Amino acid sequence: MTESVGDAVEAIVLVGGKGTRLRPLTLSAPKPMLPTAGVPFLTHLLSRIRAAGIRHVILGTSYQAEVFSEHFGDGAALGLELDYVVEDEPLGTGGAIGNVRHLLRGDTAMIFNGDILTGCDLTGLLDEHRRTGADVTLHLTTVDDPRAFGCVPTDGDGRVTAFLEKDPNPVTDQINAGTYVFARAVVEAIPSGRPVSVEHETFPGLLADGARVTGYLDTSYWRDLGKPADFVAGSADLVRGIAPTEALPGPTGEALVLPGAKVADGAILTGGATVGRYCVVEAGAVIDGSVLFDGVRVAAGATVRDSIVGRNAVVGAGTVLDTVVIGDRAVLGSGIELLAGARVWPDVELPDGSVRFSADS
Ligand code: GDD
Ligand code: MG
Repeated sequence: MTESVGDAVEAIVLVGGKGTRLRPLTLSAPKPMLPTAGVPFLTHLLSRIRAAGIRHVILGTSYQAEVFSEHFGDGAALGLELDYVVEDEPLGTGGAIGNVRHLLRGDTAMIFNGDILTGCDLTGLLDEHRRTGADVTLHLTTVDDPRAFGCVPTDGDGRVTAFLEKDPNPVTDQINAGTYVFARAVVEAIPSGRPVSVEHETFPGLLADGARVTGYLDTSYWRDLGKPADFVAGSADLVRGIAPTEALPGPTGEALVLPGAKVADGAILTGGATVGRYCVVEAGAVIDGSVLFDGVRVAAGATVRDSIVGRNAVVGAGTVLDTVVIGDRAVLGSGIELLAGARVWPDVELPDGSVRFSADS
């Protein structure tokens, strides 16, 4: 970044979603508060906002709202001034933005979906917004499969021509990357007292009214952490220094081991794995590109690959986990094999050898 965005702009971060695609982990914590590379995910995003020079940040909360304020408080520890606005009933992405209007101080707000890991040049985004005199400027990126995102075609001048949320037949691979600059007047104009979707209502409405909506294409590191595979990959990229953050609690490398964890000689930690506080990893175990929340025990010879293991869960000897999600306190016996997106709910106990995906060899 060439120069900082500075105090002229404040941030609104949308963190009120239920995180259903990350269940069962989001039964006990909102998605942005799940530990990712050693700290609640939102810490990484807030560190990037702070690094851009923004100080005043408003969190639009709803689901498990108190978890955010209990952890981040007034934001001083991050060098931020944090405000919280709670929606008793979720107001949707647009309603959440309108709902914080009374706390805005300036004429421009930068708005973030709370589940994205982004290397976007925030100063460049703001500069483009000012240069084009836009009402709204959207950070756009490109992805291989745009169907899970907002598809956003632009014309030769970077002007957005349509906003097509989760279109099954996308007309371009250019998508809404979930960071916006809004003129204050656009925030003020969002209807209050009912749910509003920024994707389904606000953006299409602005375009229909002939508002200036600018697209800012920046294809630096970007990932939405809403699904287990992306959550694991994003965490591993943070640990290995591939994804940008100012909040990694340790040096970058093949693994991040948090204080109080015990890793036996002969255990292999690789692929950007995170081993949480007070975890125990026994000899011969392999932890590859996975996230172990605090207090997990992985017994001898077990393999945990590209998976998320919830707090105080136990993985038995020789058990193999690959691309799965294990809920808090689940106890998996020895010789189990769980693959391909399996999800185990909290407190479930699986006896030794009780689930296999392959025949005995
Ligand atoms: N406060 C509040 N209230 N926040 C909400 C609400 C609500 O009612 N609903 C969702 N959010 C928050 C979520 O917590 C999340 O941080 C963000 O808004 C986006 O919601 P997701 O549920 O993660 O949406 P998505 O990933 O399917 O799609 C969105 O993000 C994509 C980029 O990651 C859309 O904006 C797409 O257009 C975009 O491409
Ligand atoms: Mg998302």
